[in-house]
Amino acid sequence: MELVVKDTVIDFEDNYLNLNNFINKFNLNKYFIVTDSNVYKIYHNEISKWFKDSKVIVIDAGEENKNIDTVLYIINNLLKEGITRGDTIIAVGGGVVSDICGFVASILYRGIKHIMIPTTLLSMVDATIGGKCGVDHAERKNIIGSFYEPKGIYITPKFLETLPKEELESGLGEVVKYAFLDNNFKLLEEDNLINIIKESVLIKKYYVEADFKDTGLRMYLNFGHTFGHAIELKKGILHGQAVLEGIKMIFDLEADLGLDISREKALYEALLKKFDLAVKGYNYKDYIEDIFNDKKNFNGILNIVFIKDFKPYLYKTTKGELYDKIRNK
Ligand code: GLY
Repeated sequence: MELVVKDTVIDFEDNYLNLNNFINKFNLNKYFIVTDSNVYKIYHNEISKWFKDSKVIVIDAGEENKNIDTVLYIINNLLKEGITRGDTIIAVGGGVVSDICGFVASILYRGIKHIMIPTTLLSMVDATIGGKCGVDHAERKNIIGSFYEPKGIYITPKFLETLPKEELESGLGEVVKYAFLDNNFKLLEEDNLINIIKESVLIKKYYVEADFKDTGLRMYLNFGHTFGHAIELKKGILHGQAVLEGIKMIFDLEADLGLDISREKALYEALLKKFDLAVKGYNYKDYIEDIFNDKKNFNGILNIVFIKDFKPYLYKTTKGELYDKIRNK
């Protein structure tokens, strides 16, 4: 099944069998593969079978390598191998690989084509969709980046068979988030993994197409991320797990502000049960200082995504106002 998100064609398949057909559809000139050391260790045979004569550039795996040095490493290798303006980068990997490769594609020769083959659930449902790409710098996540869409994305849950359990759970954290950004309960009802991925992508499609440059509606995709980012940084846990914790913290804050979110909490519990997920349950009050240090703080005012009556909206507050309102809670 194919779906188009803005200018990207996304193919959902049960396995790898249609990968070459999918790539051939784009009538590419020469292409260069970029992957990371973890993916290459498991899939080097497949990669050489799928992309027979193409040069493969392998970067070190891990968020700590999502930086400008890796961008330059890739560019230097691509140039050494003779990449031209008409050529294409094919990124095979998770969110780190896709974020870096999208950024490289956006700046090399002022923009060349790229195609994504996500290998983690998180990159299938989130990182590769919608053209946000970039790298971390000066202890800030995604602070150098661009909006640049891939031509195509080939999604198959076949890759998830080799994904560590905690990475799968991290991807499901983002899926839980999507369940609150849609007006129906399809994600709760759906059991088939490929359909869960498709449904998540469809929800993200709505926000990306409505607000590609992230100045309004797309901010709702940050539901759970305000406290989530703080937890991710401080506790060193995986992104989607942090989002899952972040959603619970938002519900606790909303409840302390007197909002009735009992139905939303019930959906959250049902989703945790359905996907066999667990949260530690951090106290949001311990992270208020952190969230106001985040890059999303404009002139001391923070936009926090709240959900009420299953609809997202932005709750705007300063640190002082927030402390005042929760003082006796
Ligand atoms: N991951 C959030 C966004 O793409 O806007």
